[in-house]
Amino acid sequence: MIPIIKPYYSEEEEIATAEVIRSGWVTQGPKVKEFEDILSEYVSAEFAIAVTSCTTALFLALKVLGIGRGDEVLVPSFSFIATANSVVHVGAKPVFVDIDPQSYNMDPDRIEEKISDKTKAIMPVHQAGIPADMDIINEIAGANGIPVIEDAACAIGSVYKGKKIGCSENLVCFSFHPRKIITCGEGGAVVSNNNKYEEELRLLRHQGMSVSDLQRHNSKNLIFEEYPIVGFNFRLTDIQAAVGIVQMKKLDEIIEKRNLIADEYNNAFKENPYIVIPAAPEQTSIAFQSYMIRIRKDAPVTRDDVIRKLMERGIASRRGIMAIHREKPYENIRALELTETDKAFDNTLILPLYPQMNIKERQYVIDSVISILQ
Ligand SMILES: Cc1ncc(COP(=O)(O)O)c(C=O)c1O
Repeated sequence: MIPIIKPYYSEEEEIATAEVIRSGWVTQGPKVKEFEDILSEYVSAEFAIAVTSCTTALFLALKVLGIGRGDEVLVPSFSFIATANSVVHVGAKPVFVDIDPQSYNMDPDRIEEKISDKTKAIMPVHQAGIPADMDIINEIAGANGIPVIEDAACAIGSVYKGKKIGCSENLVCFSFHPRKIITCGEGGAVVSNNNKYEEELRLLRHQGMSVSDLQRHNSKNLIFEEYPIVGFNFRLTDIQAAVGIVQMKKLDEIIEKRNLIADEYNNAFKENPYIVIPAAPEQTSIAFQSYMIRIRKDAPVTRDDVIRKLMERGIASRRGIMAIHREKPYENIRALELTETDKAFDNTLILPLYPQMNIKERQYVIDSVISILQ
């Protein structure tokens, strides 16, 4: 079976985790700090706070902005359910904005109609690694005095107008789950160039503790910590961070390899009358976290048939991204006019993409898709 994704691990990750285990310091310590430094430098952000997942990163970003009960947050429905769940976890209500059919991201033209007195944040997603149109989104948010949180779970290494996603005054959240470009097993981070929230984020991820274990350990003087606010345990372990450090060093190589395969897919499918290939919006470059195609309505088989027939040939594929408003917890939320979201949910699918995919596997996927659609 050709899987949808495989982590790009080697002996280096094994050695790095063994070293942490032997060191005796296994959770949020020197390796987490090193991982944060590498990450913030890579995306050119002032700081990075590593946490357990992108879901907890989004949750903390909402918390430090003071968002809670009675507030609304604009999110796309065409996203993994974690995007909306994080909003519900702080007690607020997600309000869904439809997507642009080309970029699959929040359509800037549909944002203002959803803004109300209760809107306290806009949370665009850089879906599948495709950058959302941040200049326009930031402009609308600024004009309305609303902060922006970027769900960049899928977008490490993607570039928008010459800057890596994460190089922003917004709070930007990444995921290091195995379906993502690089992975620590589980993991996430909040990064930003706006230092205003750094300290509170740091406190919140570790029970409100004012002095970290690492600072106390490294101090020559006796220092006692305080707990000025009520926080959480969202600590990343040093074992995970050690994997993350190795993965960060390979990130550019991983993106290059993934994008080469995405290019091959694009070239093979671009003239196909039944397939719409992904398109990078102007002045962006995609780090392909997923390779998603749309099956046109007049194709001889449906999207579900394509998935089924690929499975019969030993190729894993997935429905494209989910439509959150079609899941039970979100049925009652104002979800009108999500026509492009519904169409994308019904017609898109994700093909296998991982750096180790060899030429034979790639050609087999391409030939299979083309022959199924004949
Ligand atoms: C767009 C988006 N947001 C948030 C998440 C949640 O990430 P995590 O699994 O790290 O909590 C995901 C994960 O799939 C995602 O794709």
